[in-house]
Amino acid sequence: MAFLLVWLITATVLAQETPVEPVRQLHDAMIKPASDAIFNVAREAPKSVEAWTAVAGAGLTLSKSGQLMMLQAPASNREKWITLSRQLTLVGRTAQRAAEARNLDALMHASDRVIVVCETCHAPYRHRSSR
Ligand code: HEC
Repeated sequence: MAFLLVWLITATVLAQETPVEPVRQLHDAMIKPASDAIFNVAREAPKSVEAWTAVAGAGLTLSKSGQLMMLQAPASNREKWITLSRQLTLVGRTAQRAAEARNLDALMHASDRVIVVCETCHAPYRHRSSR
């Protein structure tokens, strides 16, 4: 518990100075694994209840990661970051709903939209904030 508190405070302090660390943590813990699970559907369609449930969970995780990314908006060009974080939440939710409905076409479509959101944010922000 104390450790968690220290981590939270550290993360908050870091966020004020530079948004880089929390952004990486969100990628490692949520964005990368969740989007991989969604992208994988194009190669291998879910075939069991468990597989569909896992993809729906990935959609939910992705949508939550968008809400957390919103809190990491950099000082400059803030609006665009917030818009893109919100889009991540929306496409994550769309993927979740498609998986819940076991609609493969809708899921692939959502997956394509996820990629666009990732790339649209990386174009202006990724290079700059990794310095
Ligand atoms: C709101 C902005 C934003 C969105 C949306 C976003 N990213 Fe990122 N991403 C970043 C930033 C900023 C960095 C650079 C972070 C750094 O260098 O510390 C980054 C870095 C990365 C990296 C390399 C960093 C690492 O951990 O090795 C990968 C891979 C990545 N993003 C994948 C994705 C994928 C996949 C998605 C979509 C599902 C996505 N990102 C959505 C902002 C975003």
